[in-house]
Amino acid sequence: MISMQKTDGQLQLRLKEDADLIDSYLSRVCVTDDSDLSPLFEAMRYSLLAGGKRIRPFLVLEVAAAFGVEREAALPYAAALEMIHTYSLIHDDLPAMDNDDYRRGRLTSHKKFGEANAILAGDALLTFAFFIATNEGDPLKNAAAVRVLAKNAGPVGMVGGQIMDLAAENRQIGVDTLKKIHHLKTGALISTAIELGLILSSAPVSAAVAFRGYSERIGQLFQLTDDLLDRYGDSAELGKTTGKDEKAGKNTYLSFYSREQALTLASDLAESASNLVREWDTNGIFDDLAQYILTRRK
Ligand code: IPE
Ligand code: IPE
Ligand code: MG
Ligand code: MG
Ligand code: MG
Repeated sequence: MISMQKTDGQLQLRLKEDADLIDSYLSRVCVTDDSDLSPLFEAMRYSLLAGGKRIRPFLVLEVAAAFGVEREAALPYAAALEMIHTYSLIHDDLPAMDNDDYRRGRLTSHKKFGEANAILAGDALLTFAFFIATNEGDPLKNAAAVRVLAKNAGPVGMVGGQIMDLAAENRQIGVDTLKKIHHLKTGALISTAIELGLILSSAPVSAAVAFRGYSERIGQLFQLTDDLLDRYGDSAELGKTTGKDEKAGKNTYLSFYSREQALTLASDLAESASNLVREWDTNGIFDDLAQYILTRRK
């Protein structure tokens, strides 16, 4: 028990340190001195700097660091991924999609700035991400990073998953289709974090294979706990409205399994994710992260 608390404390500390690095980098690069464009940047920064958990950029930094790359060198890719993730949240919340009023503990972008500005803030974060990813560093690595970001954010990744998620509202689907939706809408950007960390480092092929298996599992786990939190979590703690999935007729794991079954599935996913990367997880950070995603309350 004591050692578990200690490890958990180490992860919390590392999450905080990395989040501080990421936040200050994002704040530094997502700015303009052109007053005509400042309303757009204000809307971009409103959502981007609202204090998300920064799990995806954390993974970019930590995979790179596990294979000897300085965290600072990984910041442009980490920031680009967080910009794309934030764009996905702004659009996910729009009235035409999930129609949510709260995100990251504040009003959603369209509630604060109106729908047109929210759409454009999302578009701007998506495209600015590619500029930030390639603004410094090795051009060949940058090309590989852009390729993986573009593939996984787009029609065969996150956007593909989002359209399947919407099409499945108020319809009966099979559990395999649900898994595919989660793999695309959530797993694709989480896998991107691992891929970006691998591009920066010279990890052996066997480590790359193991980390890909890890990201596949924590991607599934992440959406499974998101669905559990929508049903059983606390809205104030989460910073977003709860009970929305059922109201919208969304298919989630809870459409197929009881809470207990879903929790068992979740803990199996966390355990098998950790086991895959144990050999490279010298300070237990990846194991702790899987446990954190399993037990998170926000
Ligand atoms: C929410 O992502 C959207 C999903 C993919 C489930 P996060 O739970 O990582 O949201 P933030 O970044 O911490 O706000
Ligand atoms: C979101 O899934 C996945 C994204 C690509 C943004 P959800 O719609 O369940 O995410 P929340 O619950 O609104 O954060
Ligand atoms: Mg959604
Ligand atoms: Mg949503
Ligand atoms: Mg959700």
